[in-house]
Amino acid sequence: MKNSLTFLTIMKTKTIAVLAGDGIGPEVMAQTLRVLKAIDDSFIIKNGLIGGAAYDVFNNHFPDETAQLCQDSDAVLFGSVGGPIDDAHLPKWHKCEANSLLALRQALGLNVNVRPSKLYKSLIAISPLKPELIEQGVDIMIIRELLGDIYFGEHKQFVDNGLRVATDVARYDEKQIEIAIHKGFQTAMSRNKKLTSVDKANVLDTSKLWRTIANEVAPQYPEVTLEHMLVDNCAMQLILNPAQFDTIVTANLFGDIISDAASALPGSLGLMPSASFSAEGFGLYEPSGGSAPDIANQNIANPTAQILSLALMLRYSFDMGQQATQIEDAIIHTLEAGYRTGDIYQKGNTKVGTIEFTDEVLKRL
Ligand code: IPM
Ligand code: MG
Repeated sequence: MKNSLTFLTIMKTKTIAVLAGDGIGPEVMAQTLRVLKAIDDSFIIKNGLIGGAAYDVFNNHFPDETAQLCQDSDAVLFGSVGGPIDDAHLPKWHKCEANSLLALRQALGLNVNVRPSKLYKSLIAISPLKPELIEQGVDIMIIRELLGDIYFGEHKQFVDNGLRVATDVARYDEKQIEIAIHKGFQTAMSRNKKLTSVDKANVLDTSKLWRTIANEVAPQYPEVTLEHMLVDNCAMQLILNPAQFDTIVTANLFGDIISDAASALPGSLGLMPSASFSAEGFGLYEPSGGSAPDIANQNIANPTAQILSLALMLRYSFDMGQQATQIEDAIIHTLEAGYRTGDIYQKGNTKVGTIEFTDEVLKRL
């Protein structure tokens, strides 16, 4: 009995919560699920509503049903949330991203976010940087603390002496910082063993504590070279000399900003996947770009970021590194063969839509 139970546990089919969301989310997700099916069709896929799509049904951007679905799953594949900027005042879109994404991160305890920024050789020409700045390549991994800082401190607006005032509290405890710093060192260990910790320790106490913790943790990773960099300098260095970076670890707000800056280097947000993890290793995988409502439902969105997010999910949540590499290689070969969605199209390429690009990826799996 015990043996067959063990057997059942090992064989247990894995469940993926799929939250396609809004804008281009559903269409790039549909293509990504085709790739998953081609690689391995044993997963149980459970679809959940989030963002504006959830608001339409539940009057709530992050319904309990969706939280439960995620908690009962082995990983979450997330699309994107949010509506057109001009409609931001409508209840369906008001605070949609914060209500859904931030609440989801908190509900799942996702305390670190991992964002790779990698330049594809075949796409060097579409990078906004001059060739001489990127000829050494760009391959940066940004580790961002995700549950602390100014995002989750008290937010307040009030009137003081007849003036309208607003405050946002930035708060960190040493445990939160430690988790992110360890993830930074562990990531650096699996790469080039160079870690840049980014802060604003010349001004902020949260940053002074951040730097102290980074220095305290460092001796546990003697092979890693740790450097500290101020965030304003880091923003400049990412553009002047991106090749100097390997792994970057930083606080929530700085990570939000510099990961967008770094993701511009490869030429399109449509190429950038990301992963968020809880302390127990539970993972949520999502494209770094937004819902892009202006190009939704036209079969022109680039599905690459979503497909690469799937690859990260296979690698980190299901220990399927080989299949992940297979997907990543298929993307590289599709780009090398000249197939491009509009965002990365250049003269001489074959311009294809979301579906046709995925067809080409499937052919090369
Ligand atoms: C991101 C986004 C979110 C963030 C927004 C939508 C709340 O910009 O994932 O980077 O600031 O974390
Ligand atoms: Mg952001």
